Amino acid sequence: MYNFMSEELQKLGIRKKFIRFDYKGAPLRPDKEPDYKLPFDLSFDITVSRRGINKVISCMSDETLMKAIERSGIDIPSKCMSGACGFCHTKVISGDYYIPVSRDGRREADKIYNYIHPCCTFPRSDMEILLP
Ligand code: FES
Repeated sequence: MYNFMSEELQKLGIRKKFIRFDYKGAPLRPDKEPDYKLPFDLSFDITVSRRGINKVISCMSDETLMKAIERSGIDIPSKCMSGACGFCHTKVISGDYYIPVSRDGRREADKIYNYIHPCCTFPRSDMEILLP
């Protein structure tokens, strides 16, 4: 259906930035991404900060930051869970991460100022992030 709708919307002249897709249901799996090069059994410490309060949580290398944050009981805004809506927009203070090219819906300014969408971001090191 998405392929059909994409073609039809293109014919109508709808610009790509106004089109959003919902991918809920199919979990994002890094082992299906051709450019993912990290072992899946690594665990990283993620320091999650919000309004001056810090909490350290664990996140495996093959799970999204969103999944680890939700598992730890921290509330984080989300809608699409696919990198498309920007609702989970989060600042990276430090650390390395991986975002599949197919799901990287960030704007250029987000990339420059190191913002991510935790719903489709995997840690590659210990990280510190600042939640909205
Ligand atoms: S929940 Fe939509 S971009 Fe993360």
